[in-house]
Amino acid sequence: MCGIVGFVGNKKAAPVLLDGLERLEYRGYDSAGISVIENGKFKIEKTVERIKNLKDITNNGEDITGTIGIGHTRWATHGAPSFENAHPHISANGKITVVHNGIIENYMDIKSELIADGFKFVSETDTEVIAHLIQKYYNGDMFDAIKKAVDRLEGSYALGIISLDKPDTLFAVRHFSPLIVGLGPDGNYIGSDVTALIKYTKNAVYIEDGEIAVLTADSAKFYNKDGKEIKKEVSVINWSIDAAEKGGYDHFMMKEIMEEPEALRKTIEPRIKNGEIYFEGLKLSKDKIKHIKRIVITACGSAYHTGICAKYMFEELLRIPVDVDLASEFRYRNPIIDNESLVIIISQSGETADTLAALKEAKARGAHILSIVNVVGSSIAKASDDVIYTWAGPEIAVATTKGYTTQLAVLYMFGIYAAKIKESADNKLLGELVSELSNLNKKVEEVLELKPKLSDLAKKFCQEQQVFFIGRNMDYATAMEGSLKLKEISYIGSEAYAAGELKHGTISLIEPGRLVVALNCYEDLSDKLMSNIKEVVSRGAFVLATAFTGNEEIKKYANEVIYLPKVHPLLLSAVEIIPLQIFAYYISLHKGCDIDKPRNLAKSVTVE
Ligand code: G6P
Repeated sequence: MCGIVGFVGNKKAAPVLLDGLERLEYRGYDSAGISVIENGKFKIEKTVERIKNLKDITNNGEDITGTIGIGHTRWATHGAPSFENAHPHISANGKITVVHNGIIENYMDIKSELIADGFKFVSETDTEVIAHLIQKYYNGDMFDAIKKAVDRLEGSYALGIISLDKPDTLFAVRHFSPLIVGLGPDGNYIGSDVTALIKYTKNAVYIEDGEIAVLTADSAKFYNKDGKEIKKEVSVINWSIDAAEKGGYDHFMMKEIMEEPEALRKTIEPRIKNGEIYFEGLKLSKDKIKHIKRIVITACGSAYHTGICAKYMFEELLRIPVDVDLASEFRYRNPIIDNESLVIIISQSGETADTLAALKEAKARGAHILSIVNVVGSSIAKASDDVIYTWAGPEIAVATTKGYTTQLAVLYMFGIYAAKIKESADNKLLGELVSELSNLNKKVEEVLELKPKLSDLAKKFCQEQQVFFIGRNMDYATAMEGSLKLKEISYIGSEAYAAGELKHGTISLIEPGRLVVALNCYEDLSDKLMSNIKEVVSRGAFVLATAFTGNEEIKKYANEVIYLPKVHPLLLSAVEIIPLQIFAYYISLHKGCDIDKPRNLAKSVTVE
């Protein structure tokens, strides 16, 4: 999704902007641009290629000497990726430039009005109206003009604005799109997320909806939506710059897979005390948990898949119904929520627009909102009644890996915690689960050793056109995520099927040589899965199966077996997904795909 950066200070702005944009590349984009004020004029550079192109044409930004500027990575919504549509956009009189993340829903009405006023448009974007609108309202006071312009906008926006009439001031506004201000020793920064800032400063101010930041080289002022100055809290970012760099790996995705044991340890260890799960500062009271009659989990993408795993686990341990909803459906479905329901929101970034909207919908209906989030201070974290953080550190690769496993870890812990309070599961079982959880990182570490084998297998299958993942129960939940991982980064068509459903359709797609990944670690249903394997093998499929170490039987039917250390079935997905993440990585590598930034995808989807 679009990313914005901005800088005003005592050093050249362009190198800072380009560095920030490069760090936001992971969000997904198709064009980019910067605007810097230099000798009383705008120096604007744009590209429909990678940021590297902008760096090449500006000598890494060093050829531009101005000390105030804004930059943008664009993920096209209104108008194709093109030079004209790339941000920054400039006002008709050439005096104001704007970068924008979000969507202006009423831009057509404003555009018609501006055209009637004589403004000429050069792009198809919704953003261009903002630059012209500020010009229209400008009467010698930029703050006032910006305020009047944003009062007219409907939709979502984070804006960075600079003007030739006020060349020492960077303005930033937020409404439903993420925006952070960084306060540094040599100037002040804006960014869509902390990765754009952490190289320069750890002091961040999280801007809230409706607020405006007014920054100069040595001052930072903040205003609420009524234009009244407000004091804002300065938070210290606890992520290190190393965590947001590749650290010797070719791709962030592999680095993040290798970080999974440590991320799991950091997420789980502090929450186990004397053999029991403990969540510091949880507002959700034990009494409330006792009376919960239903859990609704809502999320998007991989986070939604962790919800499906949780459904299997929660229903087993809590014996109450658990619904898992795609956030984009939940909000438009008149969901049934009452004060005996608990709504769990899952989001790595904490900024996914659909998930945030679902949260607001559930909150408006009176539900207690417990969210599972990775990014501290993110919009979802702030809007929730309770947050349990996944301490995974920054996740840069678009395809989530450590984000996924740490979300599972939190869900597992919450399931055990709630079951203990509700007295709905056997204490011995809960004890076993806690002790397995504290060893989960070691099991994942063991699985990482399968890398060479998975790379060899991937070489064999990287030219496939279509792959099927099958499984039952927890294996099925994992199959969905394994299949998503593969298709999102390798562009190979892939489908996950509940193995029992094969006969109801998919089996007609099995032909000689078709790769079927059969997940077979959910041992209670292993015999049934084995029959499904036989069905596809007899139609010529090549079966790559997972199984726990010691399962010799599977070798009789599957062509290849990935052996995994044994883990309790309720905690299975956190271990079984690892080889599937690695397999997807290597397939994509051997195919020569852009692993960290797959085409058309965005890490953080901040539009509906
Ligand atoms: C995007 C990403 C997915 C991610 C989903 C939800 O689609 O490409 O990898 O699972 O958003 O993101 P969230 O940050 O809310 O977990």
